[in-house]
Amino acid sequence: MPGYEWIGEMEKEQVNEVLDTGILFRYEFDRERKGVYKVKEFEDQFARYTGAVYAHAVTSGTAALRVALAALGVGHGDEVITQGFTFIATFEAIIESGAVPVPAEIDETLNLDPVDFEKRITDKTRAVIPVHMLGSPARIQEIVQIAQGKNIKILEDTAQALGAAVGGKKLGTWGDMGTFSFDFYKTLTTGEGGMVVTNDRELYLRASEYSDHGHDHNPDLPRALESRRFLGFNYRMNELQGAIGLAQISKLDAMIVRQKQNRELIEETLGSIDGVTMRELPVDGKDSYTHVCFFLENGDKARSFHKTLAEKGVSAIYFRDNFWHYLRNWDHIIGKKTVWNHPHPFGGPIYGKDFTYTPDMLPRTDEILSKLVVIPVSLQTEEEKIRQMAMDLQAAAEEVL
Ligand SMILES: Cc1ncc(COP(=O)(O)O)c(C=O)c1O
Repeated sequence: MPGYEWIGEMEKEQVNEVLDTGILFRYEFDRERKGVYKVKEFEDQFARYTGAVYAHAVTSGTAALRVALAALGVGHGDEVITQGFTFIATFEAIIESGAVPVPAEIDETLNLDPVDFEKRITDKTRAVIPVHMLGSPARIQEIVQIAQGKNIKILEDTAQALGAAVGGKKLGTWGDMGTFSFDFYKTLTTGEGGMVVTNDRELYLRASEYSDHGHDHNPDLPRALESRRFLGFNYRMNELQGAIGLAQISKLDAMIVRQKQNRELIEETLGSIDGVTMRELPVDGKDSYTHVCFFLENGDKARSFHKTLAEKGVSAIYFRDNFWHYLRNWDHIIGKKTVWNHPHPFGGPIYGKDFTYTPDMLPRTDEILSKLVVIPVSLQTEEEKIRQMAMDLQAAAEEVL
């Protein structure tokens, strides 16, 4: 994280090619755009990079989740299981689709615990969203096996883990669909943006149609005469974003290599500190090296370690108290607050019950997050600064542990 640190000449050249045509939109204007189709090209390269058959670009990672849920046919009356440690967008997208999020525990990978996922399946479970948090894989093989055995759709929220893999297969391509984000914090950024990937042609078509008001994109008809199979919405990516995406994807592997180098320098130090254990990586898992995630022996030590690091100027994250990434602290979800003047139907007659969310409903997640400290890995930071950070870590450990 994050690609904005490497915005440069390539991005400018790509964007200028679009500006030279004056066509900022991905659809129509076939004559005027003089062969420039940046979003389409970005989608093709993204599909090639991830190994997916189809990729469809949208306006954000949140939009990608919403579009993928629509493509999968998830809606009112359905339950969607996902982890209680994720960015709020995963829950928002489920709720926007009309379905109900069912929170499950994480394990020491910091991602969905397959065992707890299985326990939460009901006859209303339509989909599961494992979220590959902080650059690293969930136990996706186990999750896929359980879901497929019960006919549950798998949507991988890969917003935070572009480039990571299990057994050489990129994350986002293990399930029925995968989604990605290109916002300010992500390794590949387009300012705002997102992508949906799948190997299933019908799911791809449904995603592309839903994200463009239902347009069927019939190449033989002018856009105004295209027909539609269902209602959609507008989540279209524009050509300027596609242009930036093309520049960024050409450096993606190099960005991940740099993240790896920077992270390893920090990990070397952490490895020598007693009482520190690293986050678990599933068998054959490959990280995208965006964060260093480590556990202290207990919550008290983790909290004071985090505080001491802050005093030394090291910016680390204590997710147990994070306002946006942990269900415990989502007072608006817990209070079922919506913009409507009636409550969102979190449950109701179609489910035969109402769902409630409470701060202490995920004790295992709480235990794991209470011991967790996370350091974001930057691309730009010079080796000297990272070595200073390593010394600060060492000093904090001596003070606190
Ligand atoms: C796990 C996860 N899902 C979804 C999103 C939403 O992405 P965006 O900010 O592009 O809407 C994010 C963004 O941080 C995320 O971390």
